[in-house]
Amino acid sequence: MRTACFSLALATLMAPSVLAQATPEGLDGFVTLDRLPVPDVAALAAGRAVWGDTCQNCHGGNKLTGAPKITSTEVWAPRIDQGLDVLFDHAINGFIGPKYAEMPARGGNADLSDAEVEAAVAFMIWASGGDSPALAWAETQIPKE
Ligand code: HEC
Repeated sequence: MRTACFSLALATLMAPSVLAQATPEGLDGFVTLDRLPVPDVAALAAGRAVWGDTCQNCHGGNKLTGAPKITSTEVWAPRIDQGLDVLFDHAINGFIGPKYAEMPARGGNADLSDAEVEAAVAFMIWASGGDSPALAWAETQIPKE
């Protein structure tokens, strides 16, 4: 029985549809890194690690901060509509929203490079309904040989 459950879980994990689909439906509660899928694309997977280290604290669903929660597609849609350049700029340089909630520059982690912050943004929108622009960005990150 235990084996059967394990195989079923494995089959679910490996189903291509699950891998291809980011997280279209919002997860309840605080979203920790382990609840988020691993993107099948290196640049986005790298962004996932940065997100877990720095951005999760607020964007995992910390209501006190007013940060848009990862996987909340409705909350993210108008932000994603601004375009990646605006989101990258706001994440790198910091941003204060209309309700005076503050997105600190680089999420408050000055050690992060621009590229690391951009990857974290791309991962966050990939997991929040913006998989098309995130994947288009990831295409530009493939090193040229
Ligand atoms: C201390 C809490 C905090 C941390 C840590 C944090 N953010 Fe934010 N972030 C916010 C808040 C609050 C907002 C919403 C500001 C507003 O629009 O009201 C925000 C908004 C954003 C936005 C949307 C900006 C827009 O124009 O709509 C992006 C993108 C973003 N954060 C990326 C990141 C990334 C990437 C990290 C990690 C490197 C990160 N944030 C870490 C608090 C945080």
